Amino acid sequence: MSEKVVIKVNDNGSYRITGDVELVDAEGNVFETKKSFSLCRCGQSAIKPFCDGTHRKIGFDSAPRAE
Ligand code: FES
Repeated sequence: MSEKVVIKVNDNGSYRITGDVELVDAEGNVFETKKSFSLCRCGQSAIKPFCDGTHRKIGFDSAPRAE
């Protein structure tokens, strides 16, 4: 049985992905990732699809909650 993947929506920041997951581009090519990594949610990272911390500099403001 595989480990459950968790995607956490960080307040004012990235998506944090933890677990056994494969991240691919539009052509199916696999990005090299670690067991836990962050994806950009603000759209301003210089290393998309990964987060580079730019969300802090631009004051990204988003803290959604699940109902
Ligand atoms: S969410 Fe971190 S750089 Fe976009």
